[in-house]
Amino acid sequence: MAEPVLRISGLTKAFGGLVAVDGVDYELPGGDLRAIIGPNGAGKTTLFNLISGMLSADSGSIAFRGRDITGRSPHAISRMGIARTLQVKSVFNGLSVHDNIWIAAHAGGGRLHPLRAARSYRETADTVESVLDEVGIRDLRNEQAGNLSYGDIALLEMAIALAMRPNLLLLDEPVAGMSPEETQNTVARIKELSRQLDVILIEHDMEVVFGIADVITVMNNGAILCEGPPDEIAKDARVQEAYLGAPEDAEI
Ligand SMILES: Nc1ncnc2c1ncn2[C@@H]1O[C@H](COP(=O)(O)OP(=O)(O)O)[C@@H](O)[C@H]1O
Ligand SMILES: [Mg+2]
Repeated sequence: MAEPVLRISGLTKAFGGLVAVDGVDYELPGGDLRAIIGPNGAGKTTLFNLISGMLSADSGSIAFRGRDITGRSPHAISRMGIARTLQVKSVFNGLSVHDNIWIAAHAGGGRLHPLRAARSYRETADTVESVLDEVGIRDLRNEQAGNLSYGDIALLEMAIALAMRPNLLLLDEPVAGMSPEETQNTVARIKELSRQLDVILIEHDMEVVFGIADVITVMNNGAILCEGPPDEIAKDARVQEAYLGAPEDAEI
């Protein structure tokens, strides 16, 4: 059998006495759109931070396409083909949409051509142009990032991640702060993207998750509570309990 895209075993990360990710086993076979849901503080973002190398695990391992990436730097991991967006948005406000994507596209070239530091001018330009269309922000090409709406910044972040030409894209609450219309548009984009690369989506908007994910994984207290197709998860009593038992600011 082919190696799964991602295989996480016994992954654990504590902050002081708080075990944010607690012995997580997770496998991404590849080829479908996955979502991770769970109450606030469940450990979802920490799991992404561990996968992308922004945090190092206390124990456990992460393999990406059969290669152990545990403990590697964020830079090394992104060059291997994992890109992510952040829950707290970070783009270069003073630069145009085009230039923000350009920087990522140019830096991302080293992965495709290991003997070269970066993509050529031509390759970079082509990548930027196709990413503008993939995310549907061509009309914002020359806008300064600092002037974008929150929803458009989220799309720009997705474009920046895609400019690295990843095999696996980790999206952390991509529609947070978006209007219903922007959400609908973004959800359609994500669904389309997931036909070309593997996507794991952290999301608290249930309508979004149940509308697009093929498989939903539910986290609670740092551990995986259950996993399955949306219709199964929707009627799982443990899931309802996890949300009902969550702090009152839980985003359901
Ligand atoms: N860098 C950090 N330092 C200390 N505690 C953290 C840090 N990051 C996350 N936590 C804590 O770990 C738990 C899980 O957080 P997080 O992964 O952000 O949850 P989620 O994304 O599911 O809402 C929370 O209790 C949070 O306060
Ligand atoms: Mg989070």
